[in-house]
Amino acid sequence: MKIEEVKNTAKTQRISAHTHIKGLGLDENGNAIQFAAGLVGQEMAREAAGIVVDMIRSKKMSGRAILFAGPPGTGKTAIALAIAQELGNKVPFCPMVGSEVYSSEIKKTEVLMENFRRAIGLRIKETKEVYEGEVTELSPLETENPVGGYGKTVSHVVIGLKTAKGTKQLKLDPLIYESLQKEKVEVGDVIYIEANSGAVKRQGRSDNYATEFDLEAEEYVPLPKGDVHKKKEVIQDVTLHDLDVANAKPQGGQDIMSMMGQLMKPKKTEITDKLRKEINKVVNKYIDQGIAELVPGVLFIDEVHMLDIETFTYLHRALETAIAPIVIFATNRGQCVIRGAEDIISPHGVPLDLLDRLLIIKTLPYSRSEIEQIIKLRAVTEGLQLEDEALTVLSELGARTTLRYVVQLLTPASLAAKINGRSSIKKEDIEEVKRLFLDAKSSAKILTQQKDKFMK
Ligand SMILES: Nc1ncnc2c1ncn2[C@@H]1O[C@H](COP(=O)(O)OP(=O)(O)OP(=O)(O)O)[C@@H](O)[C@H]1O
Ligand SMILES: [Mg+2]
Repeated sequence: MKIEEVKNTAKTQRISAHTHIKGLGLDENGNAIQFAAGLVGQEMAREAAGIVVDMIRSKKMSGRAILFAGPPGTGKTAIALAIAQELGNKVPFCPMVGSEVYSSEIKKTEVLMENFRRAIGLRIKETKEVYEGEVTELSPLETENPVGGYGKTVSHVVIGLKTAKGTKQLKLDPLIYESLQKEKVEVGDVIYIEANSGAVKRQGRSDNYATEFDLEAEEYVPLPKGDVHKKKEVIQDVTLHDLDVANAKPQGGQDIMSMMGQLMKPKKTEITDKLRKEINKVVNKYIDQGIAELVPGVLFIDEVHMLDIETFTYLHRALETAIAPIVIFATNRGQCVIRGAEDIISPHGVPLDLLDRLLIIKTLPYSRSEIEQIIKLRAVTEGLQLEDEALTVLSELGARTTLRYVVQLLTPASLAAKINGRSSIKKEDIEEVKRLFLDAKSSAKILTQQKDKFMK
């Protein structure tokens, strides 16, 4: 199994509707602070989420599942993302939406399996013999090409490494020169070279150069302590999916044969069940030997009622396997039909046997004053000015309709204000956009009143 060049395949995404959320906002006893870390109210659900975070951190919860259930706009997605914030970036958190499984190219279960493995981390600890230090010189030595011709080749490279304790000059193989170039190593960088494999890792720029004029963002690291040649504990955090991808790719080299191979083979070979089994085997071996540690993360499936009976069955089975993440579901459905089983009605659209093994956290509708706090918070996040009167109108409206509706009215209202030549949102702006954009309830009312005018 290849673990040297594993790339991080975490999904990057912007969830702009939730950018104000920074965590669960709990005190040291795990009690929810009414307004903290960008969250307002919903205390019970937040405290429950706090316990879930503790269980995940103490690794007591592999293979378990949680369901957030509540009416639309009550903060289910928001709290799930707050859990991710609390866990930090060392614990994998993989968000997905139920409907993502429907693709014409990939099997439903394959989509689920991939996300499952994105949510399981592996921390690999290895003690390696390395040469580490700040690069003081870097000079390739060239000789005539022994095969003939006019070109010159690098016969070896001389590199100087400095630590707080001393300096050392190394004469290295030309192959290592290539990896030095790949990592873009320059004089003044702090690097380490693995003695066995010759792999080069650039850790950052040395502190001594911190004042130099630099346009690019750089990470500055202190001058390493100890000897240049030493044993070093190297820690790598990867997910099982990272390992799948790294091992499924055709392994290209520098020689012509593999170049040809790359041209003829498709870019990415498929991740097969067989490959996954093999990787699991190696992973288990590493865990037994104490080299690696399993970090079960979180798979968050929003809008879980979008899954169908086939995927539910698959999920249920996957939760039983030895290596499983914690799965968090969220839904705003009450009693409804399970997809793919057209006559079975079940709570939240989830089969009863799966439902039976879930811990359910409910979210409740917000009070008027909580809605007011959230609107204020969103206005600050979006950089909008809101007059007190406008805020009152909005929060009253929110109590009658939904939180989501009034939060969404903010941007159009600010545009209306701008058109009227103002920088802050007034009551009139709210009234204006309220007339232009309906909420779901009023829209439904109009539909029933004017039934005969619409097509069926
Ligand atoms: N307690 C809260 N504090 C601060 N902001 C919140 C809170 N609850 C919800 N929000 C914000 O209100 C909006 C709607 O909430 P969210 O999307 O989490 O609702 P939901 O329960 O997932 O709804 P749905 O069932 O429709 O998916 C989001 O912008 C969210 O960030
Ligand atoms: Mg949601």
